Amino acid sequence: EKGGYEHFMLKEIFEQPNAIKDTYRGRLLSKEAIIKMAGVEDNMKMFLNANRIIIVACGTSWHAGLVAEYIFEDLARIPVEVEYASEFRYRNPVINKNDIVIAISQSGETADTLAAIKLAKSQGAFVFGVCNVVGSSIARETNAGAYTHAGPEIGVASTKAFTTQITVLTLIALRLARAKGTMSSSDFRRHLIELEMIPDKVTQALKSDSYVKTVAEIYKDAKNFLYLGRGYNFPVALEGALKLKEISYIHAEGYPAAEMKHGPIALIDENMPIVVIATNKGHYEKIVSNIEEIKARKGKIIGIVTKGDKSVKKLADHVIEVPETIESLTPLLTTIPLQLLSYYIAVMLDKNVDQPRNLAKSVTVE
Ligand code: M6R
Repeated sequence: EKGGYEHFMLKEIFEQPNAIKDTYRGRLLSKEAIIKMAGVEDNMKMFLNANRIIIVACGTSWHAGLVAEYIFEDLARIPVEVEYASEFRYRNPVINKNDIVIAISQSGETADTLAAIKLAKSQGAFVFGVCNVVGSSIARETNAGAYTHAGPEIGVASTKAFTTQITVLTLIALRLARAKGTMSSSDFRRHLIELEMIPDKVTQALKSDSYVKTVAEIYKDAKNFLYLGRGYNFPVALEGALKLKEISYIHAEGYPAAEMKHGPIALIDENMPIVVIATNKGHYEKIVSNIEEIKARKGKIIGIVTKGDKSVKKLADHVIEVPETIESLTPLLTTIPLQLLSYYIAVMLDKNVDQPRNLAKSVTVE
């Protein structure tokens, strides 16, 4: 059932090109230049009147929510707040009539997320679910939703659920951007074409596999890791750090790269590996200067860069290339080497990759 792979996690990492395709199949119609999603179409009025979207989720799903915050605000110009479900439910949150709550959950059984949904509903909010497991509690509790269609995710460390959640949320944001007129039709078309090219580009990114293994071998005994990214790739840094923590038990922190100088920079010395996501879009120049600051303090730099990169290559100890794409889709590619890195480190440390200690696939207790 592991399809020849040593662990479910590795199998699920390699399933991502197909999982992403399955997620947009029948929804992304690039020839007609439309996006069809019943859950969105049926509630379009609600979405168009939304003053704000509040995203609630936990763990990796929360990270997908953070990526969605950039996507919704950037493309559809809808203000977004992203909340840990566990904080939201106990905070007496302000929920207004025209707020939409989007709950993201792979399992659809996470207790805190389910409780956050019930609270939002009791205050009159419309709740939209993004779940992977069909017929799950969260899928049933929400007013409408869209499934991710990633197929069963068995490994406790979430991988294909994350990239397919981002895919679904991108489709929703694009559909709303068109409906609201915040995006030109040519820009919309370009996004559809780029999204359709992502599965092949994920396949390309997966080819870094053996090189990532070499990097894992070098740093597997490190006690700490830092992950840095900016903009769309800041949540990817958080996700990379979570992945390493949960399966290898190495302490890791994700940070927005520019926040480094406000504290974490004190940690940097020759023993600190720092994974920096530095694709050529967005804040590239800024991140290159962050990398220079790390280099000056002798930190070990593992750069995740766009194919053909030159500037980071000159500074970093290692670079792992991902194909070029538009900025909003870069998380779907930059995530891949980070999943592989945590996987190989955990395997080399002889950890139980698919079932890390103290963790369960779905957290049904609060
Ligand atoms: O099933 P959910 O998406 O609601 O699960 C949320 C988190 O428990 C989950 O993402 C967790 O953080 C993963 N083990 C991370 O890999």
